[in-house]
Amino acid sequence: MSKTPTMYVERFSVFQRFIHLLIILSFLTLAITGMALKFAMEGWAAMIADWSGGFAVLGALHRFCAVITFFYFFLTMILLYTSWKDSGKSLFGFIFDPEGLVPNLTDLKEMIGTFKWFFGGKRPYYGRWIYWEKFDFMAVFWGIAVIGSSGLALWFPVQFSKYFPGYWLNIATIIHSDEALLAAGFIFTIHFYNTHLRPEKFPLDPVIFVGSISIDELKHERPREYDQLVASGELDKMSTRRAPTAWLARMATVFGIFVVTTGSILVVSIIITMFKYIQGGH
Ligand code: HEM
Repeated sequence: MSKTPTMYVERFSVFQRFIHLLIILSFLTLAITGMALKFAMEGWAAMIADWSGGFAVLGALHRFCAVITFFYFFLTMILLYTSWKDSGKSLFGFIFDPEGLVPNLTDLKEMIGTFKWFFGGKRPYYGRWIYWEKFDFMAVFWGIAVIGSSGLALWFPVQFSKYFPGYWLNIATIIHSDEALLAAGFIFTIHFYNTHLRPEKFPLDPVIFVGSISIDELKHERPREYDQLVASGELDKMSTRRAPTAWLARMATVFGIFVVTTGSILVVSIIITMFKYIQGGH
């Protein structure tokens, strides 16, 4: 008996994957360089500075990746604009699309459903975007607004103090530093756990690198999206036998595991340092 071939659907376009790659590379570098600057008196921070050529180099790398951050923010705007135009919906209809990226009542119900599922309930009837994925996406906006604007103030202190009192630079340092700590802590624990480290995905979900998932995976993970695609006849048009190429899948695994491991090491270093500070009364 011949085996039915596995069919795939695209979840992330090449453009979306490119943006996410820029996010990974810039955020990881910003977090490593930023934390090494923040905790400059620690041994691990001095080691990072030694490897990279000194603290001045870390500062320059930090600013370079900040530019990449503003660039991918701009690309995300283009992505949203083209998605809106392609949807054929009004702006209001696009923003508040029940299956779109803006959180709605269904997300609240699914969040409650998810907690019930942990205690023996049924897996929620998830759609294209699950509530934690929407939260991650929105973080790009408030994270960049808060970290980016305070970072620009630190980058251009002379220009900034022409318009604002000088002590605001101290406030900007605290906001930048603490929001960055929160962002790194969130991405390297909750985001990593939800996407890669949870039992269904461990050690890595390569979809953001390879772009497609099998239809069986779609049906299991996002049953509402699957049912909608079947009902509209889109699934037949979208599905393909073309699996992600072996080299891409291999690269994705190696790179993904490297990033998850590096982020995890950084978060452990930060936690150990913070405990040291609390105990030492810093
Ligand atoms: C997005 C735009 C960003 C800009 C424009 C920016 C800019 C800056 C600048 C100019 C400094 C001072 C560097 C120095 O002393 O040489 C700094 C420090 C720092 N940055 Fe950023 N940054 C950005 C994003 C981030 C991100 C995403 C993180 C981490 C997730 C981060 C973490 C830090 C930390 C921890 C410090 C050290 C603060 C301290 O001394 O307490 N930054 N940033």
